[in-house]
Amino acid sequence: MTRKLFSLVSIVAVAALLLTACGGAAPAKTNKVEMFSWWTAGGEADGLNAMYDQYKKLYPNVEIVNATVAGGAGTNAKAVLSTRITGGDPPDSFQLHAGLEVEKYDPSKYLQPLDSIYTSEGWDKVFPKDLIALLKYKDHFWGVPVNIHRANVLWYNKKVFADNNLQAPKTWDEFFKTADALKAKGIVPLVIGTKEGWEAGHTFETILIGALGAEGYKGLWTGKTQWTDPKVTDALNTFKKVMTYANTDYSALTWDGAAQYLVDGKGAMHIMGDWTDGWFISKKYTGYGYAPVPGTAGIFDALSDSFAAAKGAKNQANLEAWLKLAGSKAGQEAFNPKKGSICARTDCDPKLFDEYLQSAMKDWSSNAIVPSVVHGAAAVEKWATVYKDILGTFATKGDVAAAQKSLQQACVDNGVCK
Ligand code: GAL
Repeated sequence: MTRKLFSLVSIVAVAALLLTACGGAAPAKTNKVEMFSWWTAGGEADGLNAMYDQYKKLYPNVEIVNATVAGGAGTNAKAVLSTRITGGDPPDSFQLHAGLEVEKYDPSKYLQPLDSIYTSEGWDKVFPKDLIALLKYKDHFWGVPVNIHRANVLWYNKKVFADNNLQAPKTWDEFFKTADALKAKGIVPLVIGTKEGWEAGHTFETILIGALGAEGYKGLWTGKTQWTDPKVTDALNTFKKVMTYANTDYSALTWDGAAQYLVDGKGAMHIMGDWTDGWFISKKYTGYGYAPVPGTAGIFDALSDSFAAAKGAKNQANLEAWLKLAGSKAGQEAFNPKKGSICARTDCDPKLFDEYLQSAMKDWSSNAIVPSVVHGAAAVEKWATVYKDILGTFATKGDVAAAQKSLQQACVDNGVCK
């Protein structure tokens, strides 16, 4: 090494040491940051990219490694993530649902508690109380929430409804009347895709909420409501009947594949979370209407995506910069209008959001909030997985007694029911 080069290297090294010692702007060991998610579909990928664009503007020298594993609700992604985490090769940051899902990753062993960044960024003041409560697990924050999603939405094709003089059904009785009218016209009344194993469970949780009410549904996850309750039987019977109005190729379709039926005017209704709004936007499709799933007006079935930080992350400074962006107003205003979710923060500008999302903002602040089980909020992952499997089987087999028995057993196995 020439003397000149040697002294240059020394100056850079000393500067780096000084910066590290001062904290704050510590340079990353390498110039990368890896984020892991399952956001590959239209809308969700667009939202993520909008946030990445902001990161690139702020940190042009950092390479973003976008690690994704496709599959709605993270069914595939979570398995890959677990292997990476326990195998000592975690991504720096990864998608994590707010709520009990965090238990799956053994946080005290594998995750960084994020309490100090919550304090330094003032997040305990800008995230709503309901969300803060959901985010705290064993007294610590483990993820930075980027959004709030609603799971209990009935999407419908407005033209199909108008052509047939129909209104969005408010009750299941109205739903079945509407569905009969559509069937008679050769239109698939309800589109669903169950390919990834979580979608039947998603649909059913929204039916359960309607059957039991907000408190009754919440009680299912705390032991206050038994799964043997006759209202659970009613909900299973409703779901069984609903499936008789579904597209016959449901087991081959993903959630977005099913939503395509609406875009094509071949299907009339779809029960799915509001990432569908982001997906419709990405398809430039505007002919959709929305309503709460029958029986759930006034109740908001909620979930939230957050980003966690792996313990021993390879790119700590870049990771922290990412978390700060994810929790910031600018980051959330870039992400959510495309993603089809509302901000986790309470100070985003509503004018940036479409009509549906503005309605979701109002509902979030006025409705009863209940936690989604399929999207990580209500129960630990192992229970949620058993629940999903039971409903996946039920969607095709339709054995009400067997499903209800297994649901109660799952509650017992998880130490919540006796
Ligand atoms: C949810 C997730 C949403 C959306 C959806 C479909 O679990 O929270 O952000 O991505 O899955 O993949």
